[in-house]
Amino acid sequence: MRIAVIGTGYVGLVSGTCFSEFGHDVICIDKDAEKITSLNAGKVPIFEPGLQAMIEKNSRSGYLKFGTDLKTAVEDADAVFIAVGTPSRRGDGQADLTYVYAAAREIATALTGYTVVVTKSTVPVGTGREVERILRETSPEADFDVVSNPEFLREGAAIEDFMRPDRVIVGTTEKRAQEVMGEIYRPLSLFQTPLVITSLESSELTKYAGNAFLATKITFINEIADLCEKVGADVHDVARGIGLDRRIGAKFLHPGPGFGGSCFPKDTRALFQTSIEEGSPLRIVDTVIDINEKRKMEMAERVIDACGGSVSGKQIAVLGLTFKPDTDDMRESPSLDILPALVAGGAIIRAYDPEGMEEARNLLADVDFCNSSYATLEGADALVIITEWNEFRALDLTRVKSMMKSPVMVDLRNIYDPHDMALKGFTYRSIGRPN
Ligand code: UDX
Repeated sequence: MRIAVIGTGYVGLVSGTCFSEFGHDVICIDKDAEKITSLNAGKVPIFEPGLQAMIEKNSRSGYLKFGTDLKTAVEDADAVFIAVGTPSRRGDGQADLTYVYAAAREIATALTGYTVVVTKSTVPVGTGREVERILRETSPEADFDVVSNPEFLREGAAIEDFMRPDRVIVGTTEKRAQEVMGEIYRPLSLFQTPLVITSLESSELTKYAGNAFLATKITFINEIADLCEKVGADVHDVARGIGLDRRIGAKFLHPGPGFGGSCFPKDTRALFQTSIEEGSPLRIVDTVIDINEKRKMEMAERVIDACGGSVSGKQIAVLGLTFKPDTDDMRESPSLDILPALVAGGAIIRAYDPEGMEEARNLLADVDFCNSSYATLEGADALVIITEWNEFRALDLTRVKSMMKSPVMVDLRNIYDPHDMALKGFTYRSIGRPN
């Protein structure tokens, strides 16, 4: 299959690269000529394990190309994937579809022969129909079908998620388009990956419903964790106990400082807005959004509390700034709420993150960025772990303790054991476990 991918952001780049790994002939298109030049020179703009190597391999073998010429790419393609950004719109939180519709207009003028136009970006219900309308209006004679094919990849595990998905959702009732999509994903039949064939609308809603459900699961365990602290229970035992019930499932029951990232916050807001617009408000999603927002601030209060009620003039070492490990992505990271709250409380912050600091420098004021975990610690009154990077799991705790002014650790990801930490002489606070 000849595939054109429009947009070389996270989803576009990973999808295009993985399609080329399947053996398809792929060209990724972006308006940003500088980005394309650097991709052609082998420079990958995002940090994603395995991506660089896969791009290099498939570029070398000729399966993967990068360019700015949308017209030629679309003319030659059997399928065109729209993977441009859909940021949160200011005001109502609905997804901003400006880029999707602009791409559709451009694609329309270049369609030749039968082409499947696929929305890969996360788009609200009804977007596929609007893309269909734009294509028809711009090129009444064109032969095409519009398909929704949402992406479920997690940052940090994107390649694995794409190459070994739990399922692939294909939103179209048109037989010809189903056949093209079946052909594109044929390599996955080796793993008997289910292809869920459904309508455009069901497919679009599946993506939002999936993300909102996972966000709800996290928020649920976060609240159970708070209750655990009150009653002297251990949230990990509770999560394991409920997670072994297959109706619940063990994943996404890890408590923490609240969910962040480029998807859950944005998608829950957009889904809630759709539900309001349609007169069928999703109250549970509204509550999840609200709890999660407040939770980030509560984490700052937890740190202040661990420091004896005030951080004024205190030196706080912070490990981890990104919204989760194995990414350089700072979008909606809890650190963006926690650190400013501590600074406002008068704290002096020294922070380190293995990949996120370049971006963090643009987003966080009054923070001293250090080049290693230990460099944050000299004379610290408290250590706060915000992101569970592997390198923070095996700190030399004797060294940590000897460097700090007072051995207080607030572990917002529960990567250390409370009993062990007490034995080592730390004042240790975590989430949902007895101190
Ligand atoms: C998510 C979805 O998993 C993916 O399917 C979708 O396509 C995009 O959004 P991603 O944002 O990359 O992926 O990260 P994910 O691993 O899902 O984590 C999201 C947030 O939830 C992070 O802030 C993470 O720390 C938090 N989280 C996740 C928890 O706090 N507890 C958990 O048990 C799991």
